[in-house]
Amino acid sequence: MVKRFETIAVHAGGAPDPDTGAIAPPIHLATTFEHGPESERLHDFYYIRENNPTQARLEAALAAIEGGEKALAFASGLAAAATAMQALPPGSHVLVADDGYYDVRTIATEFLPRWGGESSLVDVADLDAVRKAFRPNTRLVFAESPSSPLLKVVDIAALAELSRRAGARLLIDSTFATPALQRPLDLGADIVMHSTTKYLGGHSDVQGGALIFKHADELATEASRVRKVLGSVASPFGSWLVLRGLRSLACRVERHSANALTLALALEAHPAVEAVHYPGLESHPAHGVALRQMRAFGGMLSFRVRGGRTAAVRVVSRLKLFTVATSLGGTESLIEHRASSEGPTSRTPDNLLRVSVGLEHVDDLIEDLQQALS
Ligand SMILES: Cc1ncc(COP(=O)(O)O)c(C=O)c1O
Repeated sequence: MVKRFETIAVHAGGAPDPDTGAIAPPIHLATTFEHGPESERLHDFYYIRENNPTQARLEAALAAIEGGEKALAFASGLAAAATAMQALPPGSHVLVADDGYYDVRTIATEFLPRWGGESSLVDVADLDAVRKAFRPNTRLVFAESPSSPLLKVVDIAALAELSRRAGARLLIDSTFATPALQRPLDLGADIVMHSTTKYLGGHSDVQGGALIFKHADELATEASRVRKVLGSVASPFGSWLVLRGLRSLACRVERHSANALTLALALEAHPAVEAVHYPGLESHPAHGVALRQMRAFGGMLSFRVRGGRTAAVRVVSRLKLFTVATSLGGTESLIEHRASSEGPTSRTPDNLLRVSVGLEHVDDLIEDLQQALS
């Protein structure tokens, strides 16, 4: 029987505990597992830095909801991103989205050279630019769609084909979309990355990351080895919280997306707003691509305020319902002046505010933004 996403998200990795029949999975805190006199493996687990039973349940669920053969859970999204680059052969070149999570750029531009690799930044939504940026040693294209903070959308199928022809793997950071809206592996990508700190956890109370591989190939094996040696494995409690978040993902993302679209339309109509970046708007340059590859457009949007940085910061300081905080994907609406949050290496326009649209009633959110913009 072929199951639909909502059903898989509720059940994957969720078999009742074989010892007790408990419906909620146990949290196994053990750091070490019995083995034989010559270190023979007696069970699936050996030592926590390699793997643990609660994390294994989460990984089974992540592989199922993304349609991959192998998933690895990490202590954070950035640990997952770093591992994807560290697992590459020495001397590899990585093409990295210029509008992507800013510390992924830090890993690629500052740390990768220390590990013997190299990188270049490219607008991955511009396929001609990508074509020109490939080098003979390009092994990975690291893209994000929709991206942070400009909500750029990449044609994943086209980028996958281009990458394949160049002999590189394509990784999509799908944190903003979640597997409820977008399944990059079905579109031809090789690896999906998530900061599970965001929508997959869903309640702003857990940090985690994930890599899901289309094929359980040598890169997946090497990534697992890197994770073990560097110790960036997910904790049992963190794994448990993300697994619990997955159960309600489909419902939450549906509401996040509906709220965000309504809010984006209201902002677009407001005279104090210069531009709104949201893939669900017809004005978005890749709206057609988003329609093709996403089920809805997600809970993240950004907008630019007329009057520059001062006007944008004034709007943030006048809001009453939105919490001024970084991060995203929780039940509560958050807003931030993104350039100051990203710090000195930021490439974000100075008048841009990034919004994580929560699950509140959308009219309350619109009223709050309108009074702050007035
Ligand atoms: C799109 C995206 N990728 C990666 C990350 C990094 O994830 P983490 O904070 O879990 O390390 C973030 C964090 O905000 C993000 O928004």
